[in-house]
Amino acid sequence: MTGASAEPLEGLPLTRPTDPGWAAVALGDLPALLSDHAHCEQKAASSAMALVARHPEVPGLPRAMTALAHEEMRHFRQVLDLLEERGGTLGPPPPDAYAGRIRRLSCTLRDGLGSAGDLLLACAFIEARSCERFRLLAGALEDGAKVPGPRGLAGFYRRLSSAESRHWETFRDLAAGAAGKARVARRLVRLAGAEGEIVASLPLRPRIH
Ligand SMILES: [Fe+2]
Ligand SMILES: [Fe+2]
Repeated sequence: MTGASAEPLEGLPLTRPTDPGWAAVALGDLPALLSDHAHCEQKAASSAMALVARHPEVPGLPRAMTALAHEEMRHFRQVLDLLEERGGTLGPPPPDAYAGRIRRLSCTLRDGLGSAGDLLLACAFIEARSCERFRLLAGALEDGAKVPGPRGLAGFYRRLSSAESRHWETFRDLAAGAAGKARVARRLVRLAGAEGEIVASLPLRPRIH
């Protein structure tokens, strides 16, 4: 598969593509990118388990989130391996303005989804944007972007983009089970526009978001 064959926004609820300059900025400081990425994976695992504690009543949520947490921990270990193979070390988690703003946005809209639906859709957007970003990284690497260290990063990001594409659908479907399909569909449209504005307002950095 080449970068050109995978449309970055295909199948995702996003309306605004990432700035075309982002992938070069991100790949220009690979240790910083991989350190941030590793933290994204461990945070995804932690928030999946936090959802089990907070909303065990949502049909299918405990098992879906347990499976997801396992998968995200595996990704965390894989990104740590990639970082260490390239001589990097895991830094402290950088503040995640994107995730914080998406959660605040989703949890303060008043159109009746309730706490579980709000949280699940915030996670859905975080997964969807990660999917787009991984596709962009895979595409840039497949198109010949030079990065230090062993080969194999393009395939890794291509595989992770497929995982994130599945994950956003998992969160969307759990939200529909908790709050109803029609309400979730309306909320997705509303959040998509606001999410695009958040993304456009953040600087281009060697970070996943
Ligand atoms: Fe992941
Ligand atoms: Fe994920």
